[in-house]
Amino acid sequence: MGRRLLAVATVMTLAACGGDSSPTPTSPEAGTPNTPPPTTPMVTPLRRIVENRGLRVKIGAAAGALFNSTDAASAQYMTVLAREFNVLTPENEMKFSSLRPSRTEYRYARPDSMVTWAASNNMLVRGHVLVWHSQLPNWLTSGSWTTAETRTLMLEHIAAVAGRYKGKLAAWDVVNEAYTDGTPTLRPGFWADRLGRSYIEDAFRAAYAADSATPLYYNDYNIEGLGAKSDSVYNLLRDLKARGVPVHGIGMQMHLIAGQIPTVESLTANFARFAALGLKIQITEMDVRVPTPGTAAMFATQADNYRDVLNVCLQTTACDMFVVWGVTDRASWIPSTFPGQGDALLFDRDFVAKPAYTAINTLLSTR
Ligand code: G3I
Repeated sequence: MGRRLLAVATVMTLAACGGDSSPTPTSPEAGTPNTPPPTTPMVTPLRRIVENRGLRVKIGAAAGALFNSTDAASAQYMTVLAREFNVLTPENEMKFSSLRPSRTEYRYARPDSMVTWAASNNMLVRGHVLVWHSQLPNWLTSGSWTTAETRTLMLEHIAAVAGRYKGKLAAWDVVNEAYTDGTPTLRPGFWADRLGRSYIEDAFRAAYAADSATPLYYNDYNIEGLGAKSDSVYNLLRDLKARGVPVHGIGMQMHLIAGQIPTVESLTANFARFAALGLKIQITEMDVRVPTPGTAAMFATQADNYRDVLNVCLQTTACDMFVVWGVTDRASWIPSTFPGQGDALLFDRDFVAKPAYTAINTLLSTR
């Protein structure tokens, strides 16, 4: 058999048996009636590499509107989600406004279905999020509550929701985005305005009281590298740890702009100082946006950025999870928030693996 034929035969065999090979993402054009559909990977899926090699770092994605929906792309979405990832984060479904149409009603059906589906696919679930200034329902934000009532509202929410999922989650984002950007101070918002800084500590203690076995995380963006905001969060967590508040990890959201990410040195040093506090580290919401439509050059930069961040996580013993904020460029929060930007995920709108997918697949396979 000639050298080229042998190579082709080898790739086809590996694709059929799911063995390791160099990443060769498929494209829709490549499909014929006799070849696999576009979402069938020609490489070992990310989660299988992690599982087969016993890597510490789990690999996840946020699941959102396309999860088990009537959208035509939903079936393909579910296939890719289950095939590639072993962690699922509900993108919006565990947020206050999604769960609580009124003070007395709780809508658990959809987040429950995500937790059940994840378990049946051997996936972990990251709980997101108990206390945040955003996505709060009108009945809450427009009410005239006293300080004591506001505190009760926060505590009863945590007790109910953390209690509901007790023992079923791999992590809870207990407090999200408590600091402003720039010269970071406590971010104004419903909880901070009424309760002051103590709401953070109270939230962690309440989450621990409801579920003492699930690791509890502080989660934020623009804290991934060294900097003023990262310093503020570091000082907060150092203080909480010193006083015995049950906080176990730091979530680095990692919403990045291609070509403008912190240096590897800065990421590494920052991760190290949080780890030295005895905290776990998780990449919780990674995406790397580009001007749309993305170019080959931009996708190459994006791939480098994904690879560098994953590599810092792999090299930091305390870092044990790498979660991307969505499955496909078809469904991402970015275009509506940053018009003209997007294409930030590992799979394109047609679920074709992008260079960023190849980069992290290769890194996981070869490290
Ligand atoms: O569910 C309603 C729907 O009923 C309504 O018709 C529609 C009309 O706008 O809105 C739908 O709610 C939207 C929701 O996503 C679900 O799709 C909200 O308007 C929209 O604001 C919301 O955006 C989410 C955003 O958080 C809210 O702040 C994004 O999907 C979600 O990706 C984003 O995620 C956050 C993390 O939780 C925290 N870190 C930053 C990250 C990105 O902003």
